Amino acid sequence: MIKKYSIQTLLDNYKFFLNKKVIVEGWVRSFRNYIFISLNDGSTIRNIQIIVSLKKFKKNFLKEITIGTSIHVIGIITNSIGKEQFIELESYFIKIYGKVDNLLFQQSILQPKKHSLEKLRTQRHLRFRTNVFSCVMRIRHHIAFSIHKYFNDNGFFYIHTPIITTSNAEGAGNMFQVTTLDLKHIPWIKDNIIDYQKDFFKCQTYLGVSGQLEAEAASLALGKVYTFGPVFRAENSNTSRHLSEFWMIEPEMAFYHLDDNMNLAEKFLKYIIQYIIEHCVDDLYFLTHYIYTNEEESLLKQLESLLTINFEKISYTESIKILNKSIHNNKVNFLHPVIWGMDLQSEHEQYLVNKYFKNPIIIFDYPYHIKAFYMRINNDEKTVRAMDILFPKVGEIIGGSQREERYDVLMTRMNKHNINKKLLYWYLDTRRFGSVPHSGFGLGFDRLVQFISGMQNIRDVIPFPKTPNHA
Ligand code: 4AD
Ligand code: MG
Repeated sequence: MIKKYSIQTLLDNYKFFLNKKVIVEGWVRSFRNYIFISLNDGSTIRNIQIIVSLKKFKKNFLKEITIGTSIHVIGIITNSIGKEQFIELESYFIKIYGKVDNLLFQQSILQPKKHSLEKLRTQRHLRFRTNVFSCVMRIRHHIAFSIHKYFNDNGFFYIHTPIITTSNAEGAGNMFQVTTLDLKHIPWIKDNIIDYQKDFFKCQTYLGVSGQLEAEAASLALGKVYTFGPVFRAENSNTSRHLSEFWMIEPEMAFYHLDDNMNLAEKFLKYIIQYIIEHCVDDLYFLTHYIYTNEEESLLKQLESLLTINFEKISYTESIKILNKSIHNNKVNFLHPVIWGMDLQSEHEQYLVNKYFKNPIIIFDYPYHIKAFYMRINNDEKTVRAMDILFPKVGEIIGGSQREERYDVLMTRMNKHNINKKLLYWYLDTRRFGSVPHSGFGLGFDRLVQFISGMQNIRDVIPFPKTPNHA
């Protein structure tokens, strides 16, 4: 029986397959002179060349094979005399699975010319077929896989935290509500008060913004855990690095202090990058040529250089000093004033990462009032054991902290932040049954894909992006 192989398998093992009969299936990328079909099946950026001969096939049949057509081919792998490839497939049987509507094709992004990424976004369902987007998708897959591999190899357990939740871990006002109430007939108790007893769960529920609090509970039994799932944020941020639905990885480790947390985050990021360098060379190479004109800026080189340096660690207070000194020395001007206590704006972060350090940095010990209630307060009573990792191009890629493990202190923080203690009784409870120092962080998965693939817009690294005004 003749066996089917992926194009990647055939091209990677071309010597083995020489003179063998094989089946390949895929979509036509081009068809020249009724002789050369370039076929892609998604397994790799590379195409296989299929040789068709008018002696074997009727011209009317071959006319139906146009760009985008899906075909099944049986043939023999032979040496290629062309310069572009080592082997080709001498075909003797072709079956068409699906033809392409010629009129629709004229308006589609499958037309063989360079379309802008904006244009590709208008046909999201078809952009998987483009070289650029298929590269990004393969890299996205390998990043996800490497993350699971890293944690599995290092004694972490994968925890599935809920998507529907009753509480907001990250501060009010940015959640999507989940309800089965009929919005045309809302059960009012009185003005402005809705009877949620009539809702599906008999209470108000939302899509989760983070799995951290539940992961903490798990880590206080299993030691080291991580989550990897979608989160939802209804912030009205229409930027090139914000999505309303994105993927986050949240490791949480019992007995970890902030330093352990920072070191883990750096090691983890470097592991992923190393893995991608080893597994995605073809795709990185293609993207480099797609994005940059000069070879110097190769994605591979950028990633490799990141492996050789240590991420700079600076406290928030030091970063404010650096920013002020740079203003003072006329090195830079900012729109927002630089004052201790403010949240760093993206212009400040960009300056520190891209201009001042020119490398990834970890900023730690932020003022407590700009960070979430669960972060451990320092002895100065002004700062918390927070850490953000900032990357070139994409800015904040990781946000994390050592958690407040002391019951009384946590209680006070929750009061100050107006956190509903009834809803989060269970979280407080974890501090009353053998509480321990523990830490964790959240990695923005799509931002990491953006950084590694070099894509400028986060909408171009996720299949069906959800952003404000676009579902
Ligand atoms: O800094 P954030 O809000 O941290 C948390 O949610 C914590 N619960 C994490 C933890 O300690 N377990 O989000 C973490 C990361 C950010 O650093 C950023 O990379 C990414 O998630 N992120 C977004 N990515 C895409 N679109 C958005 N709207 C994002 N908001 C945050
Ligand atoms: Mg953050």
